[in-house]
Amino acid sequence: MSHKDQYGGAHTRLVHAARNEQGAAKDLVNPPVERASTVLFDKAEDLYAFKPGVRTYGRYGTATQNALCAAIAELECAAGVILTPSGLSACTLSLLAVSQKDGHMLISDSIYGPTRAFCDNILTKNGIEVEYFDPRAGAKLAEQCRDNTCAIFLESPGSLSLEVNDLPAIVDVAKKRDITTLIDNTWAAGWFLKPLTLGIDYSIQAATKYHTGHSDVLMGAIAARDKASATLMHEYARLMGNAASPDDAYLVLRGMRTMGVRLERQQDSALKIAQWFSGRDEVAQVLHPALPEHPDHELWKRDFTGASGLFSIILNPVSQDQLHAFIDALDLFGIGFSWGGYESLVIQCDPQIKRTARPWDAPGPLVRFSIGLEGVDDLIADIERALSVLNR
Ligand SMILES: Cc1ncc(COP(=O)(O)O)c(C=O)c1O
Repeated sequence: MSHKDQYGGAHTRLVHAARNEQGAAKDLVNPPVERASTVLFDKAEDLYAFKPGVRTYGRYGTATQNALCAAIAELECAAGVILTPSGLSACTLSLLAVSQKDGHMLISDSIYGPTRAFCDNILTKNGIEVEYFDPRAGAKLAEQCRDNTCAIFLESPGSLSLEVNDLPAIVDVAKKRDITTLIDNTWAAGWFLKPLTLGIDYSIQAATKYHTGHSDVLMGAIAARDKASATLMHEYARLMGNAASPDDAYLVLRGMRTMGVRLERQQDSALKIAQWFSGRDEVAQVLHPALPEHPDHELWKRDFTGASGLFSIILNPVSQDQLHAFIDALDLFGIGFSWGGYESLVIQCDPQIKRTARPWDAPGPLVRFSIGLEGVDDLIADIERALSVLNR
Protein backbone atom coordinates (compact mmCIF):
# COMPACT_ATOMS: atom_id res chain seq x y z
CA MET A 1 0.00 0.00 0.00
CA SER A 2 1.43 3.39 -0.96
CA HIS A 3 1.47 6.16 1.65
CA LYS A 4 -1.17 7.92 -0.48
CA ASP A 5 -3.71 5.17 0.21
CA GLN A 6 -4.09 6.42 3.75
CA TYR A 7 -5.94 9.48 2.38
CA GLY A 8 -8.28 7.10 0.59
CA GLY A 9 -10.76 9.66 -0.68
CA ALA A 10 -11.76 9.32 -4.31
CA HIS A 11 -10.86 12.92 -5.16
CA THR A 12 -7.41 12.54 -3.61
CA ARG A 13 -6.80 9.33 -5.50
CA LEU A 14 -7.84 10.89 -8.79
CA VAL A 15 -5.50 13.85 -8.32
CA HIS A 16 -2.57 11.61 -7.40
CA ALA A 17 -3.26 8.65 -9.71
CA ALA A 18 -0.30 7.69 -11.91
CA ARG A 19 1.76 10.73 -10.95
CA ASN A 20 4.78 8.43 -10.65
CA GLU A 21 4.20 6.88 -14.08
CA GLN A 22 5.51 9.64 -16.26
CA GLY A 23 8.92 8.31 -17.15
CA ALA A 24 11.86 10.62 -16.72
CA ALA A 25 9.76 13.75 -16.11
CA LYS A 26 9.07 13.08 -12.44
CA ASP A 27 9.72 16.70 -11.49
CA LEU A 28 6.85 17.95 -13.69
CA VAL A 29 3.28 17.95 -12.46
CA ASN A 30 1.94 16.63 -15.77
CA PRO A 31 3.62 14.10 -18.05
CA PRO A 32 5.15 15.60 -21.18
CA VAL A 33 3.77 14.49 -24.52
CA GLU A 34 6.12 11.79 -25.76
CA ARG A 35 5.57 11.34 -29.50
CA ALA A 36 7.16 8.38 -31.22
CA SER A 37 6.78 5.91 -34.01
CA THR A 38 10.41 4.70 -33.95
CA VAL A 39 11.95 3.46 -30.75
CA LEU A 40 15.75 3.14 -30.98
CA PHE A 41 17.62 0.09 -29.70
CA ASP A 42 21.17 0.04 -28.36
CA LYS A 43 22.24 -3.07 -30.24
CA ALA A 44 21.07 -5.23 -33.15
CA GLU A 45 20.67 -8.21 -30.84
CA ASP A 46 18.07 -6.26 -28.80
CA LEU A 47 15.69 -5.88 -31.76
CA TYR A 48 13.92 -9.20 -31.29
CA ALA A 49 14.77 -9.89 -27.67
CA PHE A 50 11.38 -8.77 -26.37
CA LYS A 51 11.52 -8.07 -22.66
CA PRO A 52 8.58 -7.08 -20.49
CA GLY A 53 8.46 -3.33 -19.92
CA VAL A 54 10.97 -2.55 -22.68
CA ARG A 55 9.25 -0.63 -25.43
CA THR A 56 9.80 -1.47 -29.07
CA TYR A 57 7.43 0.60 -31.18
CA GLY A 58 5.41 3.79 -30.84
CA ARG A 59 2.10 2.06 -31.49
CA TYR A 60 2.28 0.40 -28.08
CA GLY A 61 2.41 3.75 -26.32
CA THR A 62 4.90 5.97 -24.54
CA ALA A 63 5.05 7.30 -21.00
CA THR A 64 2.16 9.67 -21.87
CA GLN A 65 -0.29 6.91 -22.75
CA ASN A 66 1.07 4.72 -19.95
CA ALA A 67 0.30 7.43 -17.39
CA LEU A 68 -3.29 7.70 -18.65
CA CYS A 69 -3.69 3.91 -18.59
CA ALA A 70 -2.44 3.79 -15.01
CA ALA A 71 -4.80 6.59 -13.94
CA ILE A 72 -7.82 4.90 -15.54
CA ALA A 73 -6.78 1.56 -14.03
CA GLU A 74 -6.81 3.18 -10.60
CA LEU A 75 -10.20 4.79 -11.23
CA GLU A 76 -11.79 1.58 -12.50
CA CYS A 77 -9.98 -0.78 -10.08
CA ALA A 78 -8.58 -2.54 -13.15
CA ALA A 79 -5.67 -4.93 -13.71
CA GLY A 80 -4.92 -3.31 -17.07
CA VAL A 81 -6.21 -0.68 -19.48
CA ILE A 82 -6.09 -0.46 -23.28
CA LEU A 83 -6.55 2.95 -24.92
CA THR A 84 -8.34 3.22 -28.25
CA PRO A 85 -8.81 6.20 -30.59
CA SER A 86 -12.51 6.68 -29.71
CA GLY A 87 -15.17 5.40 -27.37
CA LEU A 88 -16.84 3.54 -30.20
CA SER A 89 -13.59 1.79 -31.11
CA ALA A 90 -13.25 0.68 -27.47
CA CYS A 91 -16.69 -0.96 -27.78
CA THR A 92 -15.98 -2.58 -31.16
CA LEU A 93 -12.45 -3.75 -30.38
CA SER A 94 -13.52 -5.36 -27.13
CA LEU A 95 -16.53 -7.02 -28.75
CA LEU A 96 -14.35 -8.50 -31.48
CA ALA A 97 -11.73 -9.61 -28.97
CA VAL A 98 -14.20 -11.68 -26.95
CA SER A 99 -16.14 -13.02 -29.94
CA GLN A 100 -15.86 -16.70 -30.79
CA LYS A 101 -16.35 -18.60 -34.01
CA ASP A 102 -20.07 -19.41 -34.45
CA GLY A 103 -20.70 -17.76 -31.10
CA HIS A 104 -23.79 -16.05 -29.76
CA MET A 105 -23.68 -12.63 -28.13
CA LEU A 106 -26.29 -11.03 -25.91
CA ILE A 107 -26.50 -7.26 -26.22
CA SER A 108 -28.57 -4.89 -24.09
CA ASP A 109 -31.35 -3.38 -26.20
CA SER A 110 -30.51 0.14 -25.00
CA ILE A 111 -26.87 0.27 -26.13
CA TYR A 112 -25.33 3.19 -27.96
CA GLY A 113 -26.63 3.20 -31.56
CA PRO A 114 -23.29 2.97 -33.39
CA THR A 115 -22.26 -0.01 -31.18
CA ARG A 116 -25.51 -1.64 -32.20
CA ALA A 117 -24.81 -0.90 -35.86
CA PHE A 118 -21.40 -2.58 -35.46
CA CYS A 119 -23.05 -5.68 -33.95
CA ASP A 120 -25.65 -5.82 -36.73
CA ASN A 121 -23.24 -5.22 -39.59
CA ILE A 122 -19.82 -6.57 -38.60
CA LEU A 123 -20.35 -9.21 -35.92
CA THR A 124 -23.16 -10.86 -37.87
CA LYS A 125 -21.07 -10.76 -41.06
CA ASN A 126 -18.39 -12.69 -39.16
CA GLY A 127 -20.89 -15.43 -38.34
CA ILE A 128 -21.70 -14.30 -34.81
CA GLU A 129 -25.30 -14.47 -33.78
CA VAL A 130 -26.36 -11.22 -32.13
CA GLU A 131 -29.39 -11.24 -29.87
CA TYR A 132 -30.73 -8.23 -27.99
CA PHE A 133 -32.21 -8.45 -24.53
CA ASP A 134 -34.47 -6.33 -22.38
CA PRO A 135 -32.18 -4.02 -20.36
CA ARG A 136 -34.39 -4.85 -17.35
CA ALA A 137 -34.06 -8.66 -17.84
CA GLY A 138 -31.80 -9.19 -14.78
CA ALA A 139 -31.67 -12.87 -13.76
CA LYS A 140 -34.16 -13.70 -16.53
CA LEU A 141 -31.29 -13.26 -18.99
CA ALA A 142 -30.45 -16.89 -18.16
CA GLU A 143 -33.36 -17.87 -20.43
CA GLN A 144 -31.58 -16.32 -23.43
CA CYS A 145 -28.19 -17.92 -22.77
CA ARG A 146 -27.10 -20.81 -24.95
CA ASP A 147 -24.21 -23.25 -25.01
CA ASN A 148 -22.42 -21.00 -27.51
CA THR A 149 -23.07 -17.65 -25.76
CA CYS A 150 -19.64 -16.08 -25.50
CA ALA A 151 -20.37 -12.55 -24.27
CA ILE A 152 -22.94 -10.26 -22.70
CA PHE A 153 -22.59 -6.56 -23.52
CA LEU A 154 -24.24 -4.02 -21.22
CA GLU A 155 -24.63 -0.30 -20.95
CA SER A 156 -25.97 1.04 -17.70
CA PRO A 157 -27.83 3.25 -17.71
CA GLY A 158 -28.50 3.38 -21.44
CA SER A 159 -27.42 6.82 -22.59
CA LEU A 160 -30.79 7.72 -24.16
CA SER A 161 -33.45 5.81 -22.24
CA LEU A 162 -31.58 5.56 -18.91
CA GLU A 163 -32.63 1.97 -18.10
CA VAL A 164 -30.34 0.39 -15.50
CA ASN A 165 -29.04 -3.19 -15.88
CA ASP A 166 -29.10 -5.44 -12.79
CA LEU A 167 -25.34 -6.03 -12.78
CA PRO A 168 -24.97 -8.56 -9.91
CA ALA A 169 -27.84 -10.68 -11.31
CA ILE A 170 -26.32 -10.63 -14.80
CA VAL A 171 -22.81 -11.38 -13.49
CA ASP A 172 -24.28 -14.36 -11.67
CA VAL A 173 -25.91 -15.63 -14.87
CA ALA A 174 -22.66 -15.14 -16.81
CA LYS A 175 -20.29 -16.67 -14.25
CA LYS A 176 -22.31 -19.88 -14.01
CA ARG A 177 -21.89 -20.32 -17.77
CA ASP A 178 -18.38 -18.96 -18.27
CA ILE A 179 -19.65 -16.03 -20.37
CA THR A 180 -17.56 -12.85 -20.64
CA THR A 181 -19.29 -9.65 -19.50
CA LEU A 182 -18.58 -6.15 -20.83
CA ILE A 183 -20.18 -2.85 -19.96
CA ASP A 184 -20.17 0.57 -21.57
CA ASN A 185 -19.64 2.53 -18.35
CA THR A 186 -19.46 5.98 -19.94
CA TRP A 187 -22.48 7.48 -18.12
CA ALA A 188 -20.94 6.88 -14.69
CA ALA A 189 -17.42 7.63 -16.01
CA GLY A 190 -15.86 5.04 -13.69
CA TRP A 191 -16.53 7.59 -10.95
CA PHE A 192 -20.04 6.65 -9.82
CA LEU A 193 -19.90 2.94 -10.77
CA LYS A 194 -17.07 0.39 -10.45
CA PRO A 195 -18.33 -2.53 -12.56
CA LEU A 196 -15.12 -4.57 -12.23
CA THR A 197 -15.60 -4.76 -8.46
CA LEU A 198 -19.05 -6.26 -9.14
CA GLY A 199 -17.52 -9.03 -11.26
CA ILE A 200 -17.90 -7.55 -14.76
CA ASP A 201 -14.88 -8.50 -16.92
CA TYR A 202 -14.44 -5.30 -18.95
CA SER A 203 -15.49 -1.72 -18.24
CA ILE A 204 -15.46 0.46 -21.34
CA GLN A 205 -15.23 4.22 -21.42
CA ALA A 206 -15.80 6.82 -24.07
CA ALA A 207 -13.16 8.99 -22.37
CA THR A 208 -14.26 11.54 -24.94
CA LYS A 209 -17.00 12.50 -22.48
CA TYR A 210 -16.36 13.18 -18.78
CA HIS A 211 -12.68 12.22 -18.61
CA THR A 212 -11.74 14.78 -21.23
CA GLY A 213 -14.47 17.12 -20.09
CA HIS A 214 -13.89 19.84 -22.66
CA SER A 215 -15.53 18.46 -25.83
CA ASP A 216 -12.37 18.54 -27.92
CA VAL A 217 -10.82 15.05 -27.81
CA LEU A 218 -11.88 11.55 -28.87
CA MET A 219 -10.55 8.64 -26.80
CA GLY A 220 -11.70 5.25 -25.60
CA ALA A 221 -10.52 2.94 -22.84
CA ILE A 222 -11.07 -0.72 -22.05
CA ALA A 223 -10.40 -1.57 -18.40
CA ALA A 224 -9.92 -5.26 -17.61
CA ARG A 225 -10.78 -6.92 -14.30
CA ASP A 226 -7.86 -9.34 -14.08
CA LYS A 227 -4.47 -9.93 -15.66
CA ALA A 228 -5.69 -12.67 -18.03
CA SER A 229 -8.50 -10.44 -19.40
CA ALA A 230 -6.04 -7.56 -19.78
CA THR A 231 -3.54 -9.77 -21.63
CA LEU A 232 -6.23 -10.99 -24.03
CA MET A 233 -7.30 -7.44 -24.81
CA HIS A 234 -3.71 -6.15 -25.16
CA GLU A 235 -2.95 -8.98 -27.54
CA TYR A 236 -6.02 -8.26 -29.62
CA ALA A 237 -5.30 -4.53 -29.72
CA ARG A 238 -1.77 -5.32 -30.88
CA LEU A 239 -3.01 -7.63 -33.65
CA MET A 240 -5.54 -5.05 -34.80
CA GLY A 241 -2.94 -2.28 -35.03
CA ASN A 242 -4.75 -0.24 -32.40
CA ALA A 243 -3.06 2.98 -31.29
CA ALA A 244 -4.11 6.12 -29.38
CA SER A 245 -2.43 9.47 -29.87
CA PRO A 246 -0.10 10.70 -27.09
CA ASP A 247 -1.34 14.28 -27.57
CA ASP A 248 -4.88 13.13 -26.93
CA ALA A 249 -3.80 10.93 -24.02
CA TYR A 250 -2.16 14.00 -22.47
CA LEU A 251 -5.37 16.00 -22.79
CA VAL A 252 -7.53 13.21 -21.39
CA LEU A 253 -5.29 12.80 -18.34
CA ARG A 254 -5.26 16.57 -17.85
CA GLY A 255 -9.06 16.59 -17.99
CA MET A 256 -9.35 13.65 -15.60
CA ARG A 257 -7.72 15.58 -12.76
CA THR A 258 -10.84 17.73 -12.44
CA MET A 259 -13.37 15.08 -13.44
CA GLY A 260 -14.43 14.39 -9.86
CA VAL A 261 -15.34 17.99 -9.04
CA ARG A 262 -16.97 18.50 -12.43
CA LEU A 263 -19.08 15.39 -11.99
CA GLU A 264 -20.18 16.31 -8.47
CA ARG A 265 -21.32 19.71 -9.73
CA GLN A 266 -22.96 18.24 -12.86
CA GLN A 267 -24.71 15.67 -10.68
CA ASP A 268 -26.20 18.35 -8.44
CA SER A 269 -27.32 20.56 -11.33
CA ALA A 270 -28.77 17.69 -13.37
CA LEU A 271 -30.72 16.39 -10.41
CA LYS A 272 -32.11 19.83 -9.64
CA ILE A 273 -33.19 20.29 -13.27
CA ALA A 274 -34.65 16.76 -13.42
CA GLN A 275 -36.67 17.46 -10.27
CA TRP A 276 -37.83 20.75 -11.74
CA PHE A 277 -38.96 18.97 -14.93
CA SER A 278 -40.97 16.50 -12.80
CA GLY A 279 -43.32 19.29 -11.82
CA ARG A 280 -43.97 20.55 -15.36
CA ASP A 281 -47.18 19.89 -17.28
CA GLU A 282 -45.29 19.70 -20.60
CA VAL A 283 -43.35 16.65 -19.39
CA ALA A 284 -44.81 13.12 -19.37
CA GLN A 285 -41.81 11.45 -17.70
CA VAL A 286 -38.35 12.31 -16.44
CA LEU A 287 -35.77 9.58 -17.11
CA HIS A 288 -33.21 10.05 -14.35
CA PRO A 289 -32.32 7.02 -12.20
CA ALA A 290 -31.64 9.12 -9.09
CA LEU A 291 -35.30 10.17 -8.95
CA PRO A 292 -37.23 7.85 -6.59
CA GLU A 293 -40.01 7.44 -9.17
CA HIS A 294 -37.59 6.06 -11.80
CA PRO A 295 -38.39 2.34 -12.32
CA ASP A 296 -34.74 1.34 -11.72
CA HIS A 297 -34.09 3.70 -8.82
CA GLU A 298 -33.46 0.89 -6.31
CA LEU A 299 -30.93 -0.83 -8.60
CA TRP A 300 -29.19 2.50 -9.18
CA LYS A 301 -29.10 3.23 -5.45
CA ARG A 302 -27.64 -0.19 -4.72
CA ASP A 303 -24.83 -0.17 -7.30
CA PHE A 304 -23.97 3.48 -8.04
CA THR A 305 -22.56 6.12 -5.72
CA GLY A 306 -24.06 9.01 -7.70
CA ALA A 307 -25.41 10.20 -11.02
CA SER A 308 -23.73 12.08 -13.83
CA GLY A 309 -25.15 15.04 -15.74
CA LEU A 310 -26.91 13.12 -18.51
CA PHE A 311 -30.64 12.44 -18.38
CA SER A 312 -33.70 12.55 -20.62
CA ILE A 313 -37.30 13.63 -20.54
CA ILE A 314 -40.33 12.45 -22.47
CA LEU A 315 -42.46 15.35 -23.49
CA ASN A 316 -46.22 15.12 -23.75
CA PRO A 317 -47.21 14.78 -27.42
CA VAL A 318 -46.15 17.80 -29.50
CA SER A 319 -45.71 18.33 -33.21
CA GLN A 320 -42.26 18.01 -34.76
CA ASP A 321 -42.32 21.76 -35.43
CA GLN A 322 -43.10 22.52 -31.78
CA LEU A 323 -40.33 20.18 -30.64
CA HIS A 324 -37.80 21.86 -32.90
CA ALA A 325 -39.04 25.28 -31.80
CA PHE A 326 -38.48 24.31 -28.13
CA ILE A 327 -34.93 23.07 -28.77
CA ASP A 328 -34.08 26.04 -30.96
CA ALA A 329 -35.42 28.43 -28.30
CA LEU A 330 -32.84 27.24 -25.73
CA ASP A 331 -30.05 29.80 -25.51
CA LEU A 332 -27.67 28.13 -23.06
CA PHE A 333 -27.88 24.60 -24.47
CA GLY A 334 -25.90 23.71 -27.58
CA ILE A 335 -27.47 21.23 -30.00
CA GLY A 336 -24.94 18.43 -30.34
CA PHE A 337 -24.44 14.67 -29.97
CA SER A 338 -21.38 14.17 -27.80
CA TRP A 339 -21.83 14.90 -24.10
CA GLY A 340 -20.03 15.10 -20.77
CA GLY A 341 -18.30 18.41 -21.49
CA TYR A 342 -18.33 21.58 -19.41
CA GLU A 343 -21.13 23.05 -21.53
CA SER A 344 -24.79 22.05 -21.55
CA LEU A 345 -26.26 20.28 -24.57
CA VAL A 346 -29.61 19.05 -25.81
CA ILE A 347 -30.78 16.66 -28.54
CA GLN A 348 -33.96 15.08 -29.72
CA CYS A 349 -33.36 11.30 -29.62
CA ASP A 350 -36.25 9.48 -31.30
CA PRO A 351 -34.62 9.09 -34.73
CA GLN A 352 -31.74 7.15 -33.15
CA ILE A 353 -33.76 4.84 -30.89
CA LYS A 354 -33.55 1.31 -32.33
CA ARG A 355 -35.19 -1.31 -30.17
CA THR A 356 -36.14 -4.92 -30.80
CA ALA A 357 -36.20 -6.77 -27.45
CA ARG A 358 -38.19 -4.18 -25.51
CA PRO A 359 -39.94 -1.94 -28.03
CA TRP A 360 -39.78 1.75 -27.24
CA ASP A 361 -43.22 2.98 -26.36
CA ALA A 362 -43.38 6.56 -25.17
CA PRO A 363 -46.27 9.01 -25.32
CA GLY A 364 -44.12 11.80 -26.79
CA PRO A 365 -40.64 12.67 -27.99
CA LEU A 366 -37.53 11.86 -25.97
CA VAL A 367 -35.24 14.83 -25.37
CA ARG A 368 -31.80 14.31 -23.78
CA PHE A 369 -29.90 16.89 -21.76
CA SER A 370 -26.23 16.90 -20.87
CA ILE A 371 -25.85 19.34 -18.00
CA GLY A 372 -22.65 21.37 -17.89
CA LEU A 373 -21.10 23.75 -15.42
CA GLU A 374 -23.24 26.83 -16.00
CA GLY A 375 -25.27 28.22 -13.10
CA VAL A 376 -28.16 25.83 -12.57
CA ASP A 377 -30.70 28.61 -12.03
CA ASP A 378 -29.69 30.14 -15.36
CA LEU A 379 -30.24 26.78 -17.05
CA ILE A 380 -33.68 26.36 -15.46
CA ALA A 381 -34.67 29.89 -16.46
CA ASP A 382 -33.55 29.16 -20.02
CA ILE A 383 -35.59 25.94 -20.17
CA GLU A 384 -38.64 27.58 -18.62
CA ARG A 385 -38.56 30.34 -21.22
CA ALA A 386 -38.04 27.85 -24.08
CA LEU A 387 -40.87 25.59 -22.87
CA SER A 388 -43.31 28.46 -23.30
CA VAL A 389 -43.14 27.93 -27.08
CA LEU A 390 -45.01 24.65 -26.53
CA ASN A 391 -47.94 26.48 -24.99
CA ARG A 392 -48.48 28.93 -27.82
C1 LIG B 1 -22.71 5.63 -24.32
C2 LIG B 1 -21.70 5.95 -25.36
N1 LIG B 1 -20.75 5.06 -25.63
C3 LIG B 1 -19.81 5.28 -26.57
C4 LIG B 1 -19.81 6.44 -27.28
C5 LIG B 1 -18.78 6.64 -28.35
O1 LIG B 1 -17.81 7.54 -27.98
P1 LIG B 1 -16.91 8.28 -29.07
O2 LIG B 1 -17.69 9.43 -29.56
O3 LIG B 1 -15.69 8.65 -28.35
O4 LIG B 1 -16.64 7.29 -30.16
C6 LIG B 1 -20.77 7.41 -27.04
C7 LIG B 1 -20.79 8.69 -27.81
O5 LIG B 1 -21.68 9.47 -27.75
C8 LIG B 1 -21.75 7.14 -26.06
O6 LIG B 1 -22.73 8.03 -25.81
